[in-house]
Order: sequence, then C-alpha cells, then structure tokens
Amino acid sequence: NHLNPGCGGCSEQRSFLERAFSLRKAHSIKDMENTLQLVRNIIPPLSSTKHKGQDGRIGVVGGCQEYTGAPYFAAISALKVGADLSHVFCASAAAPVIKAYSPELIVHPVLDSPGAVGEVEKWLPRLHALVIGPGLGRDDVLLENVKGILEASKARAIPVVIDADGLWLVAQQPALIQGYRKAVLTPNHMEFSRLYDAVFRGPVDSDDRHGSVLRLSQALGNVTVVQKGQCDILSDGQQVLVCSQEGSSRRCGGQGDLLSGSLGVLVHWALLAGPEKTNGSSPLLVAAFGACSLTRQCNHQAFQKHGRSTTTSDMIAEVGTAFSKLFET
Ligand SMILES: *[C@@H]1O[C@H](CO)[C@@H](O)[C@H](O)[C@H]1NC(C)=O
Ligand SMILES: *[C@@H]1O[C@H](CO)[C@@H](O)[C@H](O)[C@H]1NC(C)=O
Repeated sequence: NHLNPGCGGCSEQRSFLERAFSLRKAHSIKDMENTLQLVRNIIPPLSSTKHKGQDGRIGVVGGCQEYTGAPYFAAISALKVGADLSHVFCASAAAPVIKAYSPELIVHPVLDSPGAVGEVEKWLPRLHALVIGPGLGRDDVLLENVKGILEASKARAIPVVIDADGLWLVAQQPALIQGYRKAVLTPNHMEFSRLYDAVFRGPVDSDDRHGSVLRLSQALGNVTVVQKGQCDILSDGQQVLVCSQEGSSRRCGGQGDLLSGSLGVLVHWALLAGPEKTNGSSPLLVAAFGACSLTRQCNHQAFQKHGRSTTTSDMIAEVGTAFSKLFET
C-alpha cells in the first residue's frame, strides 16, 4: 500500500484499527481511486431533457451582520459544483451584502425574524439539502431559529450538512441530530474536540484520529462525521475513509465553506443514486469523500497558480476544472 504523500501521519493507527474493526482500507492510492470511482457513479449526467431544479436546489442557513463571506462561499460553491439553484437564508443585515456579492444567489433575509422557522419551512418542500452554519454566529435568537429549522428539516427527511457555528449548536444539544442518518457533520480540529467532549465528557485521544471519528459517529447514532485536517477522516459509524488527495500547505479561511457547499449538492446526488451505485458504502460517506477530494484539488490547483496569496475565491475559480479532473476522467 502506497500512502499519498503529505499524509503519513494519518496512518499511525491503521494496522490496529484494521485488526480491531476489519475496516476497509481507503488509505492507499488504489483505494482512493476506488472510492473516487464511487463518487463518479453518483454524479448525474448532464442532459437536455431535465428541467431546472432537478440537479439540486440547495439552501444555506447562515450569515449575520458580522459574517457574510461564509454563506456566500458555500452557496456559490454549490452552484459551481452543479446545483441549479442556491438559496441563502440569513439575518436581515447580511442579505443586501450577500446579494451584492452575487446576482446568482437567492437571498432570504429571514433568519432573525420572529417567523424565521415558518419562512424557511415554506421553502423546504422545494429544497433537496440544507447546509447549516456558515457565517451563522452565536446569537441566541439565530441559534434558536436554526434549531427550529433543523427540526423541520428532520421532519421532512431533508439531508443536512452542518458546519461552523451549526456545530457549536449541536455541541450544546447533541440530541438535535442524534440518530439522524441524513446529517453530515464537518468539524475542523477545534469543532471536533468540542463535539467529542460534549458527547463523551472527556478529551479526544489525539493519537487515534481514526478511532475518535468512528466513535463519535457511532455515539451520535451513525451520523456521518468528516473531520477536516491535514488529511480528512470520514466515518459513518461503520467504515472509516481517509481522504489524502493532494492539496497544499496553504489553508485559507473559507475553505471549509467550499467543502460544505459542494457537499450539499453531492449529498443530494448520492441519496438520489442510492446504495446500488456506491457498492454497499453509505451514499453520504461517498458524497463526503467526493467533497473532500474536490476541495483539496481546488486548493492544489489554486496554490499552483497563486502560491502564498491563494484565497478561497481562487479556489472557487478552480471548481470546474478540479471537478472534471477528478470525476469526469
Ligand atoms: C466494491 O466492493 C467489493 C467488495 O467489497 C470490492 O472488492 C470492490 O473493490 C469494490 N469496488 C469499488 C469500485 O470500490
Ligand atoms: C452503527 O453502526 C454500527 C456498525 O455497523 C452498528 O454496530 C451499530 O448498531 C449502529 N448503530 C445504530 C444506532 O444503528
């Protein structure tokens, strides 16, 4: 097995875990390639017979006075990956700003209104997935409304990707997503520790990233967990996958929004394709692997052009070619 360069540290627990859990090995280049093939299987072909909206209508829930970049990055990434429509449900102060960034997004200034849950609920029948958390902030009123939106989405079985301060909310109340199999959590190192501590009342064993991700997923009732890092570690409580697609040493704020936005689309496609297309693996896990690979490839390509000055906008400009390179070969 050949490890991908730049991610040697991710293999330390591997033999132990393989013995302990008979995990599938997704670490080698060959396994990465096999998993990428599964991602290709879930991508719907472009066809002239489809009508607008069939490839995905995604809603991003986030954006407040302080943070307007994150929901924009997530929503525009969903469009660039292939969603037909991308909505943003944000606080009223954020809406004009986000609209001014892009004429391509549909922006609803509802998140801080007293009727926020109802306003978003009206749209839920027309949405295929929600991305909850980019630029959300920690205002109590907003978080309370997001809680209601999350409950309404669960009641309608709408898949949800939860990131950033959406994860802060989940760490306060893990019961919110406990056992909801259509949820994918995308914590960074810090957010992962907070969630882990909330669930297990103890610190993460930092020498065992694989095992920690697996255990957190299982404790939450096999909700898919994507721990972002030098390599990304993903689990649905059953399998553990490692995404070590070559990125770069450059991390810029906003990179996680590209991941969550593209994941919103891929989750929809994966559930539409169903488990036959994913060779027995969880569709959500395959979708998450696809979004991680794509984000890293965008980072790699942008870094080759811009080096140290790479920003998330540069990465988003690479989505089209990165997508073709990974998934349309
Ligand atoms: C599909 O699953 C079988 C059995 O687990 C495995 O041998 C094969 O490599 C998998 N194919 C892909 C493309 O992952
Ligand atoms: C989660 O998956 C594991 C491994 O397949 C299984 O043993 C466990 O029962 C599952 N938990 C739930 C809540 O379904």
